Amino acid sequence: MTAHDLDLAGLGAPERPGLHPLLAGRFSTADFDPVHEVGDATVDVLLDAARRAPSAGNSQPWSFIVGRRGDPVHARLVGHLSAGTRAWAPAAGLLVANLAQILVEDTDFDYSEFAHYDLGQAVAHLTVQAQSLGLSVHQFRGFDRAGAESEFAVPPHWQITSMAAVGRSAVPERRPTPRAVAASTTPVRRTVDEITWARHPRLSRRPRAHPAGPGKP
Ligand SMILES: Cc1cc2nc3c(=O)[nH]c(=O)nc-3n(C[C@H](O)[C@H](O)[C@H](O)COP(=O)(O)O)c2cc1C
Repeated sequence: MTAHDLDLAGLGAPERPGLHPLLAGRFSTADFDPVHEVGDATVDVLLDAARRAPSAGNSQPWSFIVGRRGDPVHARLVGHLSAGTRAWAPAAGLLVANLAQILVEDTDFDYSEFAHYDLGQAVAHLTVQAQSLGLSVHQFRGFDRAGAESEFAVPPHWQITSMAAVGRSAVPERRPTPRAVAASTTPVRRTVDEITWARHPRLSRRPRAHPAGPGKP
C-alpha cells in the first residue's frame, strides 16, 4: 500500500480487495428464468441509468428498442435473432436493441467519432444498474442487423449496434450449463499487468492481444 492508497483491506471481492461485488459477480448468463418478468418501472430505471452515461460533447448518441417478454416489440425482436441466440435470449424478461447514432441525419458525416464508444458506456451503466437489482445482462451480436433495422424503420443515420437480454438468471453464478457452453461466454481475462501499457513505477510492457482474438472467447 502506498501513502496515497485507500485502505481496501476487507472491502469488496476477496480476490481483489476494493473491487465492487457487482463487478466481481457479474457474468453473462445464458440461463434466464423463463417465468420472471421485468416490470415497467424497472425498465425505466435501467434506461435512466443508461442515459446518465457520459458521452463525447454530451452527444448522447444512443437509443433503445425495448421488448418485454410477451409484448409485441419482444416478439418482433425475437424474429431477428440468430438460431444460436434464439436458444437462450427469448427466455429473458427483456430484450433490448442498442442503437448508436452514427451519421448526421441526411448526410454522410459522422455524428460523433465516439458514437459506438458512448453507446457501450451507456450499456455498461445499464448492466451495472441491472446487476444491482438482481438482474443479469447478456449482450450479443447474434441477430440479423439489417432485418431488425428494417423491422423498426431505423433510418440510415442510426444503427442497431448490439442487443442485450436482461432478466433474472436461473443460476446464481457462472456455470457450464449446456446453454452457457453453447453461448461460449468466458471468465478468462487478460491480467491487470497485461492490459497496462505504461504505469510508473512498474516495468511497462506492451499489452498483448487476447490469444483467442476478438469474437473467439
Ligand atoms: C458487443 C458484444 C457482443 C457480444 N456478442 C455475443 C454473442 O453474439 N453471443 C454470446 O453468447 N455472447 C456475446 N457477447 C458476450 C461475450 O461473449 C461475453 O461478455 C464474454 O465472453 C465475457 O463473458 P462474461 O460477460 O460472462 O464475463 C457479446 C458481448 C458484447 C459486449
